Amino acid sequence: MHIVIIGTGNTATVLGKRIKAAGHNIVLVFGRNESEAKTLAAILGTTYTSSWNDINNTNAELYLLAVTDDALEDISQQLSVNDKILVHTAGAVSKDVLKNASRHYGVLYPLQSLRKEMEPLTEIPLHIDASDEQTLKLIGDFANSISKHVTVSNDMERLKLHVAAVFCNNFTNYMYTLAEEYCKKENLAFNHLIPLIKETASKLQYHSPSSMQTGPAIRGDKKTIQKHEQLLAGYEELHEVYQNLTQKISEH
Ligand SMILES: NC(=O)c1ccc[n+]([C@@H]2O[C@H](COP(=O)([O-])OP(=O)(O)OC[C@H]3O[C@@H](n4cnc5c(N)ncnc54)[C@H](OP(=O)(O)O)[C@@H]3O)[C@@H](O)[C@H]2O)c1
Repeated sequence: MHIVIIGTGNTATVLGKRIKAAGHNIVLVFGRNESEAKTLAAILGTTYTSSWNDINNTNAELYLLAVTDDALEDISQQLSVNDKILVHTAGAVSKDVLKNASRHYGVLYPLQSLRKEMEPLTEIPLHIDASDEQTLKLIGDFANSISKHVTVSNDMERLKLHVAAVFCNNFTNYMYTLAEEYCKKENLAFNHLIPLIKETASKLQYHSPSSMQTGPAIRGDKKTIQKHEQLLAGYEELHEVYQNLTQKISEH
């Protein structure tokens, strides 16, 4: 397919590379910041613009709108791609935000943590939706060409998955951040914990997390919990999180 990519951030970059690698033709990159657009266009071997007027002067069949969630509404008010397919990439925004900009619109939501510099072969499951059956078929064919895991999910399903993803990804990463800061202050290498993190994550492929919980809170090891809390007395944030989660785990 002939594709225009709108946006130059993490999602535009990662999906752009996938799209190119799958043999599609990226005909234009739009970025409101010209130098960012130039950089991404160079990576994707295509041309760039920072003028909205140029968007329609292409032979594109699909427009990938990979901009911040909050910008989607404003952009779709000023953008018109007529009969071409327009998709956004947000988990928490309705597909209908695009209805003023195209007759055929949809969503291509990557349920993965995307960073520009990420490993090129990382699995990127896609959750798709569309305004109509014909568009869903086309978006589905396109999605299948760039990912091995494609699922049709409506607005509410996507929003709920997004909430679950916040728990699985953003909250756990906050825990890693606290642990890393603690290790630094105590002159310990956070790296020692990586095998543990990997093992816990990898077990989830075959077991429910509810049956995999270990540690002092689930065992009711009160003396160990007390020792931990003594160590954390000088760490206000860690201490508060430790106490809250210990209570939640023991009550669950
Ligand atoms: N990254 C992820 O892990 C991930 C995963 C799944 C879905 N998504 C979704 O993908 C979309 C993009 O996220 P991202 O992580 O790629 O964000 P990002 O790295 O912060 O990039 C955001 C892009 O949006 C552009 N932008 C923001 N406001 C704009 C406006 N008013 N007009 C034109 N361009 C505008 C930014 O341009 P400037 O550089 O000029 O600010 C930038 O190119 C979001 O809907 C997000 O929910 C992201």
